[in-house]
Amino acid sequence: MNEKTTPVTGAASDAHADYVLGSSDLEHRRLMLQARILRPSTDRFLRLGGLRPGMSVLDLGSGMGDVSMLAAGIVGPRGRVVGIDRDPVTTGKARRRARGEGFDGSLEFEVADLDDFDTGERFDAVVGRYVLLYQKDPAATLRRFARLLRPGGIMVFHEFDFVVPNPTFPPCPLWDDSYRLLTDVYEAIGTPPDFGRRLNRAFLDAGLPSPTVECQGPVAAGEKSPLFPWLAYSLRVLEPALAKTGLSLPAGLVCDDTLPDQLEKAVVEQGSQVLGALQYGAWTRVP
Ligand SMILES: C[S@@+](CC[C@H](N)C(=O)[O-])C[C@H]1O[C@@H](n2cnc3c(N)ncnc32)[C@H](O)[C@@H]1O
Repeated sequence: MNEKTTPVTGAASDAHADYVLGSSDLEHRRLMLQARILRPSTDRFLRLGGLRPGMSVLDLGSGMGDVSMLAAGIVGPRGRVVGIDRDPVTTGKARRRARGEGFDGSLEFEVADLDDFDTGERFDAVVGRYVLLYQKDPAATLRRFARLLRPGGIMVFHEFDFVVPNPTFPPCPLWDDSYRLLTDVYEAIGTPPDFGRRLNRAFLDAGLPSPTVECQGPVAAGEKSPLFPWLAYSLRVLEPALAKTGLSLPAGLVCDDTLPDQLEKAVVEQGSQVLGALQYGAWTRVP
């Protein structure tokens, strides 16, 4: 995929009021790009958390299906993965991608809101990436889904923390100011931009044992890093939310298909090294 030249549509297509990134074609591309960046961290968290061949897994907020497919690869054909997401368009795309990748009956996707989902089935693992922060009461979500685990089952969650005060060195103000907008807009709409650091508290509030927590961070040094299109796409899908909350891009940046190149040029000209969002993995085993 050429991240730089394909024209994209940034407008959100539906009414997912509390999922601020919406459900546009661009958001779907952004999720897939983001998944490529995050795959090594998520893979590590899932395996350290105890995911093993033959397990049954529930993936909360499965989006374009990347975590479900990653989990399905780990649990193998004797295992089973169910991804749930309330967005039917995204879920349809996830199903098609999974078929295209050769996954069969061992991986399914269901359209459901986490608040309404229920099943008589019990799972060996409940997992999720970038989903707890969007819930009104993340601890309640954890508590509800812990009930769907078999005794000794595991919960593994991967969440971010955008709040990195000085992400570039040498400082690249255009990147820093653009990146800070992610924190500003999340704070303005009441979605915690630092949810990764709240994982221990959320697990405890859910009545779960303190999780093991690990933190990592993607870094860009030099040209062609996927962090450039990632920030550009993120800002583009957030454009309506930025406008609504009175925030705007730094002067000099144009919010169009060239945004990844504009950000990359500014960073590379300074010879800056860029720290992306911190990635937290948290996992625990229920009694
Ligand atoms: C940032 S995306 C992450 C997708 C996927 N986990 C990944 O990491 O690639 C968050 C997803 O969670 C879904 N979501 C958020 N809140 C939800 C809820 N209450 N019920 C079902 N899906 C939800 C959204 O529709 C979106 O697809």
